[in-house]
Amino acid sequence: MFVKHLGSGAYGRVDLVQDDTTGEQLAVKTALLPPAEHNPSLTTLREISALTALRGVEHVVQLVAFHIDTPERRSTIYMEAAETTLANKIKENAPKGGGWGLTREARTILYEVTCAMRSINAAGVWHRDLKPENVLIMRDGGAKVADFGLSRDASSSK
Ligand SMILES: Nc1ncnc2c1ncn2[C@@H]1O[C@H](COP(=O)(O)OP(=O)(O)OP(=O)(O)O)[C@@H](O)[C@H]1O
Ligand SMILES: [Mg+2]
Repeated sequence: MFVKHLGSGAYGRVDLVQDDTTGEQLAVKTALLPPAEHNPSLTTLREISALTALRGVEHVVQLVAFHIDTPERRSTIYMEAAETTLANKIKENAPKGGGWGLTREARTILYEVTCAMRSINAAGVWHRDLKPENVLIMRDGGAKVADFGLSRDASSSK
């Protein structure tokens, strides 16, 4: 069941959905293939490949499932759902005296993102698009790096 729209970009959209029986909520990223293409876009394949390589890695958004529907020209990526993004948190905090400052919460997020980037690089993935919009804040307040659409496999990028 559709709950709410979470974000959209050039690729398609991200929605929050809920399993009617279990109540579990997931974020669903849907991309439509360009009209002249018969295969999922490279962006989608790179994202699925990176998220698969990063299964179980702390502070990285976790892939639950994916589906590529060739006749419907649609690819769907199911991920754990976050509460908000770091970009939203910075915006919400900006009016309070002009800066978020290095509060304890900000320091923890910085530390978690740094740990995530170290693990991502150690797994042979280059994220290449780290920014507040791509850092998710989970319900427990923890940070997770997301959006691997621009990522590259380090071993094939030399
Ligand atoms: N797992 C998630 N839980 C909650 N919100 C999410 C999740 N994944 C993505 N979003 C929201 O959707 C937005 C776009 O998702 P994502 O960054 O993966 O796509 P994108 O291709 O980079 O889009 P854009 O080009 O607009 O940045 C995010 O900035 C965030 O607000
Ligand atoms: Mg993004």
